[in-house]
Amino acid sequence: MYTTEFLDLPPLQSAAGEVHLPGSKSISNRVLLLAALSHGTTIVHDLLASDDTRVMLDALRQIGCSIDETGNTVHITGLGGRSPQSPAQLFLGNAGTAMRPLTAALALLGGEFELAGVPRMHERPIGDLVAALRQLGCQIDYLGNDGYPPLRIAHTQGVPPLALARPIQVRGDVSSQFLTALLMALPLAAATQAIVIEVVGELISKPYIAITLALLARFGIVVQHDNWQRFTIAAGSRYQSPGSIHVEADASSASYFIALGAIASSASGQKGIKIQGVGLDSIQGDIRFVEAARAMGAMVTGGPNWLHIERGAPGVGWPLKAIDLDCNHVPDAAMTLAVMALYAQGTTTLRNIASWRVKETDRIAAMAKELRKLGATVEDGADFIRITPPAQTGDWKAASIHTYDDHRVAMCFSLAAFNPARLPVRIEDPKCVAKTFPDYFEMLFSVSRVAIDSIPVICIDGPTASGKGTVAAAVAQRLGYRFLDSGAIYRITALAALRAGLSIDTAHEPRIASMAQTLPVRFEDGRVWLANDDVTEAIRTEEAGMNASRVSALPTVRTALVALQHSFQQLPGLVADGRDMGTVIFPNAPLKVYLTASATCRAERRYKQLISKGFSASIEDLRADLEARDARDSTRSVAPLKPALDALVLDNSTLTIDEAVEQVLVWWQERQPFAVSAQG
Ligand code: DC
Repeated sequence: MYTTEFLDLPPLQSAAGEVHLPGSKSISNRVLLLAALSHGTTIVHDLLASDDTRVMLDALRQIGCSIDETGNTVHITGLGGRSPQSPAQLFLGNAGTAMRPLTAALALLGGEFELAGVPRMHERPIGDLVAALRQLGCQIDYLGNDGYPPLRIAHTQGVPPLALARPIQVRGDVSSQFLTALLMALPLAAATQAIVIEVVGELISKPYIAITLALLARFGIVVQHDNWQRFTIAAGSRYQSPGSIHVEADASSASYFIALGAIASSASGQKGIKIQGVGLDSIQGDIRFVEAARAMGAMVTGGPNWLHIERGAPGVGWPLKAIDLDCNHVPDAAMTLAVMALYAQGTTTLRNIASWRVKETDRIAAMAKELRKLGATVEDGADFIRITPPAQTGDWKAASIHTYDDHRVAMCFSLAAFNPARLPVRIEDPKCVAKTFPDYFEMLFSVSRVAIDSIPVICIDGPTASGKGTVAAAVAQRLGYRFLDSGAIYRITALAALRAGLSIDTAHEPRIASMAQTLPVRFEDGRVWLANDDVTEAIRTEEAGMNASRVSALPTVRTALVALQHSFQQLPGLVADGRDMGTVIFPNAPLKVYLTASATCRAERRYKQLISKGFSASIEDLRADLEARDARDSTRSVAPLKPALDALVLDNSTLTIDEAVEQVLVWWQERQPFAVSAQG
């Protein structure tokens, strides 16, 4: 997951390959609650790991369910008629799928509970659900604003007698989650009598109710409905665990990859995008996004648990066709259509999307504002959005996309990186995708192809102990970029040579070079591996540094290590530190920094480093060593240490690490096309 302040997507070119999508949020949280209300233990497979399921799992533990998690498989033993543990204070983040159903279920189970969330959760309406529960006789108080969380359920004496004889009325036109919440809670009160729920006003998002009904059936609850207006829960209802259940992959998450297949040309040799985990028979309404994508020109095929998407033929399905669509049946996935509209000929109108206004953010306002930043012409109203793409390639703008703590805004705007103007796209606060799809960007990168020159590289070269390693690693972390410590590669090569019994000299150069060509090195979670040996510490000694300096003076060894270093240039970008990153390995890098410091200063730093690790050292010897290495590194015939002609020199003798990192980031930002709009 990217936890950086922003993530810059380089212009992406084509896409192909296979993705296995994470479990659906809607199904995951429904299944968790149903399992918690059931008799028996349920094994839930392929559960989504996300913020929203995390708060649900924590809440269920707090009320007394026993839960074992191993990877994406969770064993839950339900309450099965027991009372929940109370009093309890439940924190439900920004998870509407936890807040609404838990409020209803806990009101019917009895006890004393406070349910709260993040500030945005406290702006998301729950009044219609509370009104329905109060109608029944439940005692629920608002702790903040009327009609919104946080709230308190105050059933200290157990559940009060409930008025179940008459139909329970609930509004269906603000959020279908209110009806879902009642449908999941009321079976608890339907042991001896049937219960009828009537929807007042038009029911929005019917497909989500269909998911609820399909899952209730798996847990033994029969609900009949008349035209989605009147729902009858059968008398004698009793929650029973199905034993084990698989969570389908999220059809809304699939929409980004369906769109990707529709807009990105296939990478050479591979055709289209294959999605595993969800297919055309999905119980999720958002699967009907496929119809909309086809209407826009995508070629989609599929089976029970898979989909395959290819871009339409030029002139037939590409560029995409503009559509005018009532999106009530695909409310979440429709946001993806809004970004696809950027690649369509003509104006696309998405209608009947008023529910967007009460989601994670006001999605109509958010989409309109961000699409405009990219150069689109957008009109928005109470319940629609109308998008006309930039008229010419030159009308596209490089934008820094604000994401409003809304996972779907972040994910759908990533698709703008396929723009024909080949502009990068900045996604602010990329970690907001954790709500439903923590590894979204990794998965996007895994199937995206890009011209190698578009993957940015920041080179930080300089003499030994200048602090470049620390600065480069910090810059990489701040940008979410990969990191290449090229010095480590020479250190490992020297170590591998010595371990193979080869002294480091020109006599052994051919053999060392051939070893270097296939060096089995891996960098993983801060550790460095040579085949199966963890050599992280072994390559950090002063002696290993000297040996590296010697091995690095052998021209054929340097050549043999070029391909390995180039292989680090991967999405979304690279920070490379060394001696010749800017001069030899990445000569076209858009930013080259030459980081240096006085020999005295570097000797002092190295001295402190060694002492803190418990080694003994003398500053004078260290300084002499450093100067010897500088001399060797800068006078050798191949790739001598020197700043590239276009490098910016940064003397950090008097700077802290943080100051040096900030300076590099400022230089980097100055080179970005959206730096101004990001600040403005
Ligand atoms: O940065 P370092 O101290 O880990 O590097 C060890 C040696 O490797 C250094 O003395 C010179 C050599 N080196 C090089 O020649 N080219 C690089 N790009 C990186 C390191």
